[in-house]
Amino acid sequence: MKRIKIQDIFSSPNTTGEVWIKGWVRTLRNAKTFSFIEVNDGSCLKNIQVLADETLANYDDIKSLTTGSSVSVRGNLVESPGEGQDVEVQAHDISIYQKAPENYPLQKKRHTDEFLRTIAHLRPRSNKYGAMFRIRSKVSMMIHQYFQDRGFYYIHTPIITGSDCEGAGEMFRVSSLKEPSADASRDFFGKETNLTVSGQLSAEMFALGLGDVYTFGPTFRAENSNTSRHAAEFWMVEPEMAFCDLNGNMDVVEEFLKYLVREYMDRCAEDYSLFSRFVDKDLDNTLQTVVSSEFARLSYTDAVDLLEKSGRTFEYPVSWGSDLQSEHERFLAEDYFKKPVFITHYPKTIKPFYMRLDDNDRTVAAMDLLVPKIGELVGGSQREERLDILEKRMNEMNLSEKDYWWYLESRKFGSAPHSGFGLGFERFLMFITGVSNIRDVIPFPRTPGHIEF
Ligand code: 4AD
Ligand code: MG
Repeated sequence: MKRIKIQDIFSSPNTTGEVWIKGWVRTLRNAKTFSFIEVNDGSCLKNIQVLADETLANYDDIKSLTTGSSVSVRGNLVESPGEGQDVEVQAHDISIYQKAPENYPLQKKRHTDEFLRTIAHLRPRSNKYGAMFRIRSKVSMMIHQYFQDRGFYYIHTPIITGSDCEGAGEMFRVSSLKEPSADASRDFFGKETNLTVSGQLSAEMFALGLGDVYTFGPTFRAENSNTSRHAAEFWMVEPEMAFCDLNGNMDVVEEFLKYLVREYMDRCAEDYSLFSRFVDKDLDNTLQTVVSSEFARLSYTDAVDLLEKSGRTFEYPVSWGSDLQSEHERFLAEDYFKKPVFITHYPKTIKPFYMRLDDNDRTVAAMDLLVPKIGELVGGSQREERLDILEKRMNEMNLSEKDYWWYLESRKFGSAPHSGFGLGFERFLMFITGVSNIRDVIPFPRTPGHIEF
């Protein structure tokens, strides 16, 4: 007989007869001559109820099973006569892999997220984190599905790089030297290298050859901002599209996010319901708004104007030329528009070198998507395709043309308008689950000062 997953039982409601499952004991209730064991195998949120009676040879061991113990159960799947479940397994054979000791940290009671973070190696066995990481897996595949269905090619851009895409200098050095050395020519690659902050520059080269491409992989930032929305290691989805301008870019963001939210609510319904019922009661509304409303679009200049006239007192004052702070972003998305909003055409001085300069010479063809509760979810732009202007911008920003020679060549040989964006995958997971700390959507989070596990 083939072992099945508990998910298989619940996803095909007519299954009855002989089954074989393996999993972990969640709870055990003993009656006089039999016991009910709730078993979960991580394949889905629901437990299966197992009925074990005293005729089983090892019944003495079974009735003393503890939460967290690992078991293999063979039995007959039948309609359950009891309340609370449709089916149950009447066991005729239960073997015990290991009985968990009484000090198993994940007891039945509800634990705080803070506590569960200290046992990140065990939290996948809890309802909430089981649901979270099933969702993370499924949504990853939906992202691939969206792009693959539309003719985008998946590019594996390098993790170790020699350039700083965002120009913010927030990089982790990569070195094979035992002692740190100022002389990078002695190091493994013969030059200074770091973990990538974004796959964009590589993706651009492939967009200008393959048309529409995307990368989806880990990125690293040594930002010392210990906030609930920043991680030192996070995943980014970065599509790059040839012959696409800023408006076309925003159209893709909007269609892509609507697709993901719809598919997620549909295909992760059971796990989603845990979050919409227990984590954020407003989640259904928030997500329905994404699916059904047109995202707002306004320029940075208009946004600053709106913030100045809002009558709100912000911790950080707003003024043209300075970057929007999280409180400003959240005011716009959460309080003012009450839906996702694109802010476009930021001052060139606060954005990276590769963004296309607008005719006014002061702003660039940038766009950030701000959403309620999170703030910035997506950052993107139309790229500067004009060689002379790109070189001028790099000079202004003290970037060496020598280091970016290959990037500049793409603007010499068949340069073309192109655009792209980066979606922070963890921020998206926070958005669709209502979870407010980025540490709780990453299997083993890396943040300043924290690299346990
Ligand atoms: O706005 P960012 O810095 O844009 C880029 O890196 C571009 N190269 C993307 C592109 O155009 N291809 O980052 C993109 C997104 C942000 O909007 C945010 O959602 C997320 O990445 N992000 C982070 N997520 C978690 N922790 C951090 N430290 C993050 N920094 C950025
Ligand atoms: Mg950004």
